Amino acid sequence: MTAIPLQPPRRLVEFTLDGQAARVPEGATILDACRAAGKDVPTLCEGDTLTPKNACRVCVVEVEGARTLAPACSRRAEPGMSVRTDTERTRHSRKVVLELLASSVDLSTTPKVAGWLKEYAAKPERFGADAARLNEEPKVDNDLYVRDYDKCILCYKCVDACGEQWQNTFAIAVAGRGFDARIAVEHDAPLTDSACVYCGNCIEVCPTGALSFKSEFDMRAAGTWDESAQTETTTVCAYCGVGCNLTLHVQDNDIVKVTSPHDNPVTHGNLCIKGRFGYQHVQNRD
Ligand code: SF4
Ligand code: SF4
Ligand code: FES
Repeated sequence: MTAIPLQPPRRLVEFTLDGQAARVPEGATILDACRAAGKDVPTLCEGDTLTPKNACRVCVVEVEGARTLAPACSRRAEPGMSVRTDTERTRHSRKVVLELLASSVDLSTTPKVAGWLKEYAAKPERFGADAARLNEEPKVDNDLYVRDYDKCILCYKCVDACGEQWQNTFAIAVAGRGFDARIAVEHDAPLTDSACVYCGNCIEVCPTGALSFKSEFDMRAAGTWDESAQTETTTVCAYCGVGCNLTLHVQDNDIVKVTSPHDNPVTHGNLCIKGRFGYQHVQNRD
């Protein structure tokens, strides 16, 4: 007999979402309610396995009676509140946030952002070339993953995943302030000289591709990366008895990267170096 763990019962919260009655379990965020209702609220710094950091503000919504816009990813639904997700004010705010981000960094590998720029009529070019903080060479200092900070929006997801929320390795943090702020390891050393244990849990949560598998980075540079030609197969890691789930991304019969399902109740998308990167033996055909 399979034992199904029961969740403690949660009171339902009733409120109004874009004029429609909505009911969500107590503790759910406005974003949870929007997703359940099929509304596409843009998000960047939100992560389904991380505590919201409220860093990007692209998800803002209007709560009736509130002076400021509220981040949908972290504001919990409250009984009787009235929320509007698509008003002139929310659209204007998202437009400006997207313009600020897209004018300063390279969002070419950020999923969905091209559609949002169009939807909100964002014009990043209006800030001019001086707004960009580009032209840093990607840091390629090991065979497993690459750090391309031209694409970094300083969302802190990797810092939280590497630190107290999951890995507890604390290899990466934000160094510098203002325009000089960068994600870095201690003393801006090469990754190989840092505390990094190569779990790759930072890559799993990075929303922009600033952190990527070396395999993906090389294939993109060669023009051979093609997500539409990739299949995904979820299997069980065989290296140790923990039994983490691995999702193998395969293109042309080669594993090109490994992710892990975020809804796994044990690992929540996190892996160790063996599960994340130890796949070369599968395709060693020499
Ligand atoms: S490297 Fe990625 S996850 Fe880390 S702060 Fe930059 S964009 Fe966010
Ligand atoms: S990913 Fe690491 S911890 Fe998980 S089963 Fe594989 S070897 Fe064990
Ligand atoms: S996604 Fe909500 S503040 Fe970034």
